[in-house]
Amino acid sequence: MRETLGGSGVAGATWALVVAAGSGERLGIDRPKAFAVLGGRPLLAESLDRLDRCPWVDAIVVAAPVGWEEPAILLSEELATTKVVSCVSGGATRADSVRAAFVEVSDEALVVLVHDAARPLVDDGVIERVLEPLSRGFDGAVPTLPVDDTLKRVEDGRVAETVPRERLVRAQTPQAFLAPVLRHALEGDVSGATDCASLVERAGLRVAVVEGDPRLLKVTTPADLALVEALARSS
Ligand code: C5P
Repeated sequence: MRETLGGSGVAGATWALVVAAGSGERLGIDRPKAFAVLGGRPLLAESLDRLDRCPWVDAIVVAAPVGWEEPAILLSEELATTKVVSCVSGGATRADSVRAAFVEVSDEALVVLVHDAARPLVDDGVIERVLEPLSRGFDGAVPTLPVDDTLKRVEDGRVAETVPRERLVRAQTPQAFLAPVLRHALEGDVSGATDCASLVERAGLRVAVVEGDPRLLKVTTPADLALVEALARSS
């Protein structure tokens, strides 16, 4: 399923794909995670609103959970977004959802941002940071946070080794890519990919690391939802 919405319809240079098709089983609610209630409205509303207002973003495509395309469209209309140009049905995996959304991206696009709807508190600062390396010859850029805990590799319920954490980071979204680079990466094998940067890395291309944002935590459990709600209120 694919719906073209009443956005500007203008193919701008920077497109944002919002992947929102995950089931969110660990939230334990009767609807997909993107429709969990955050501050009295669906979780998806937060990223849509914020990306729509971002001056760096020209057009937005949403990958909605199968069967939830219509509510996603209605939400976009209720928010009076001006940049949401299309809503597609998501796929079985995150990468499949990105692929489905990418089909809508104009051939004129220069840059594509991919963002998890499950990280509602996206802001202009992190978007600016991931876009910047693309003008310095990088193919993509990822916001990251340091790893604070000690890391262990586990086998059969026992610690096999303690992994040095100095060179490890936690990757977040939004991630930014030159549009032809992401298009090419999505044409290949996407199995096992939990983010888009890993696809571009696999192709041997250059992905920059920029400072992430602790507020961009990914909602997985009810406790995460409560924390994001508190963070949203305190801003
Ligand atoms: O499952 P996880 O929380 O890691 O998913 C990250 C993001 O990818 C979420 O915003 C989720 O909605 C999205 N996703 C998707 N299609 C899938 C699985 C996840 O759009 N099949």
